Parts: sequence; structure tokens; C-alpha cells
Amino acid sequence: MNNTSTLADYGSQTSFSSAGSGAAATLGLTTAMSVAGGVLFLLVMGAVWLARRRNRPGHVWWIWAGGVVLPVLALAALVAASTFTLAAIGRTGDTAPVIEVTGHHYWWDVVHDPQGRALRDANEIVLPADTKVTLRLRSGDVIHSFWVPSIAGKLDMIPGRVNEMTVTATRPGRYRGQCAEFCGLSHPLMAFEVLVLPPAEYAAYLAGLQDEARDADTAQLEQGREVFLREGCPACHVIRGIAEGGRIGPDLSRVGARGSLGAGMWRMNVGNLAGWIADVQDMKPVAEMPSFNHLSGPDLRAVAHYLASLK
Ligand code: CUA
Repeated sequence: MNNTSTLADYGSQTSFSSAGSGAAATLGLTTAMSVAGGVLFLLVMGAVWLARRRNRPGHVWWIWAGGVVLPVLALAALVAASTFTLAAIGRTGDTAPVIEVTGHHYWWDVVHDPQGRALRDANEIVLPADTKVTLRLRSGDVIHSFWVPSIAGKLDMIPGRVNEMTVTATRPGRYRGQCAEFCGLSHPLMAFEVLVLPPAEYAAYLAGLQDEARDADTAQLEQGREVFLREGCPACHVIRGIAEGGRIGPDLSRVGARGSLGAGMWRMNVGNLAGWIADVQDMKPVAEMPSFNHLSGPDLRAVAHYLASLK
């Protein structure tokens, strides 16, 4: 099995440090509710203490004030706060650029601006900072749930439906997301990364998604590309300019540039790539990809080096 040092490493996955408008609103609401709940708890405990101390029936206005007026006012205020927050989070953008994310068993397909040219990536969602973006969420099989605690609230991905969420990431950086709905044996291994870039770098990223994969310019990389083609990998995976037919598995055109491997789970490097290819069913049980454990050592090394070179 894999030791923890090979796990992907990009800080914690937390709702308590917000880097997006939706997460900030949710954090504000959580704080308000916790403080209000704490104050009400102390008020009620104070009233109980007072009642026990006096040890005789109090005035009837205590019943009206504490049993009717206080709960009605408190609950009305909290309902109003949560309703306005949810409405603000759920409001979808009209002109915002669209990023389409589809959950699959156990990875994420990502398409930038499906209105125009569909620019495809996988398992890493790149967002422009300080820009309102509409995320259009779908599922390719069962119910998954899209959740990046530092950026936004979570929203289910339901087969046959399109759910939309608007997010504005406010702080460049790398954030962890996680499928938040049990979707099968490897549900806990269905993570992803969100990379928030300054707008100029985001434009460069989009431009890179249109380029063909870089050339295999050494003998080993060439061997790796041949192994990729010979072993039938293009039946499921796309590498732009090399093999463009498969859509069952993640697009690999820039797989080596991603921060992690196996949908946000392991560090992206040649060793982990080789381990993944040879033993994917051990690293991610019941993934749709079979373990390619029949490859020779040199072939495995070559194809891992080749994939790592795709940036
Ligand atoms: Cu996908 Cu849990």
C-alpha cells in the first residue's frame, strides 16, 4: 500500500478559511448562528438558575417572554439570515464564464466554456481570481456532490439534471475539494484540486488547453508514447494531437502539470504514475481502469515518464 508521504499535499480542506464568496457567506452565517445559539443557551440557563433559586412560581410574563416572544424573534432572525445567504450563494451568473464539471466513478471531467470551444481538462479545476464563474454540474453515472469548502458551499451532481452554482474565488492558491455524497467503494478517494490563478495566468492556462501535447523528444518518451498507443489507452483517454477519440477516462493532455494524481489523491510524479498504471485497482478499488500489471519494467517506466512529460 501507499504510505502517506506520497499523498497529495495542498494544505487543509477547511470551511474556516474562506477564499471564495460562497465560502465567506457560509462562514458568516455559521458564525452568526453559533453566536446566537450560544447567547440563547446562556439566557435559558440563566432563567433556569433564577427559577430554581427563587423556588416559587414566577410571573406569567416569563412564560410569554421566554416561551413565545424569544423563540419567535430568534428563529425569525435566523431563518431570514439563512434564507438571504442561501439566495445570495445560489444566484447564478448571467454573463459569467461557464465551467462544466461532470462527476464520474471516481474522477471529474472539466470543460471550460462549453458555449464556445470546449476546452477540456480533468481532476483539477482552474478558476480566474476575482471573477464570477458559473459552475455547471452534472453526473455521468450516480449522484456525486461537488464541494470545495474554502471556495463555496456544496451542491449535488444528479444524473439527468444540471445544477448550477456561481462562485467568485478571491485568493489565488490551491484548494482541495472532495466528493461529498457516497457514490461507491472509492468515494473517499474522489477528491480534486481547485487552482485559483490571477486572470492573466488563467488566460494562459486556457490557451495551453488548445495546444497539442508536447513532442516525445527522447527515445524513452517515444517508447512511452508507443506503449500508450499499443496498450489501448486511447480507447478511454485523450492526449491532444496524439489520440483524440476516448472520453471514458480523464483527459491526459496536461496530466504531468497537475498537482495530483488519481483525482486529488496522490502526488504527481513519475513513481506514483508508474504505481498507478500497474496497480490502479489497489490504489483506487473498483475504478473503471484496470491495473496494467502485465507491462514490463522498461515499458512501465517509459509510459510513466511520457505521461509526466505532458504539461
Ligand atoms: Cu463521487 Cu462520492
